[in-house]
Amino acid sequence: MDLEIAPSILSADFGKLSEEIAEVEPYSERIHFDVMDGHFVPNISFGAPIMKWIKSELPIDVHLMIEHPWDFFEDFVKAGGDTIIVHEEACEDLRGTIEKILALGVKAGVSIKPKTGVESITNVLDLVQQVLIMTVEPGFGGQKFMSDMMPKIAQLKEMGFDKEIAIDGGVNGETAKICRDAGANVLIAGSYIFGSEDRIAAINSLRA
Ligand code: DX5
Ligand code: ZN
Repeated sequence: MDLEIAPSILSADFGKLSEEIAEVEPYSERIHFDVMDGHFVPNISFGAPIMKWIKSELPIDVHLMIEHPWDFFEDFVKAGGDTIIVHEEACEDLRGTIEKILALGVKAGVSIKPKTGVESITNVLDLVQQVLIMTVEPGFGGQKFMSDMMPKIAQLKEMGFDKEIAIDGGVNGETAKICRDAGANVLIAGSYIFGSEDRIAAINSLRA
C-alpha cells in the first residue's frame, strides 16, 4: 500500500476542532484520535462524546490508551470510529479482545509500547488491519522519536504481516524518512503538523 498520513488531533486546537480537521483533511488519508484515561497513561484526553462531533470524510483510527478498552468499543463504533486500536499491554486476552472489535463490524488494530516486542502480538496478526508501533512512551504529544524501534517493522514483515504498519510518536520532517526507509506505511503526526504555521507543507514533508 502507498504511504498514508494520519494527523493526530491531540495537538489540534480543541476550541476549533472542526476547522482544524477541515484544514488538514484534503491532504491526509486518515484521522488519528488518541483516547487516554489517566490510568493506562498518565494523561487524559477525550472520548466518544467528543468523537461523535467529528465530521470527516476520512476514516478515523481510534487509538485507545485506556484500561478495559472493551467497555467502550461500542461507544466508539457508534461515534464513527473505523479502526479501533487497543494496546497489547492493556489486554489479558488479546485475541478475544480483537475478536470483540471485529464482531462490531469495524477494523481492528493493535499497538505496542516501546518496551513491548512484536512477538507478543503474533497471535493476532491474522486478525488486525493495523499494527501501531509507538516511538515514544504513550501519553503526550511532542516527545522525542525513538529510532531504535525501527527494527520492529522488519520483524513484522518477516512474520508475514503485510497490512498497515503505523508509527506514532515524534514523527516530523526528518524522522519520517527514517520510518519510510524502514518500511512503515502509515505515519501519525500530531505536534509537527498542528504546531506548524503551514500545516500543508508539514504534511507534504512527511511524504517527500
Ligand atoms: C502519544 C499519542 C500520539 C501523539 C503523537 O501518546 O499516541 O498519537 O499524538 O504526538 P506527536 O506527533 O507530537 O509525537
Ligand atoms: Zn496515537
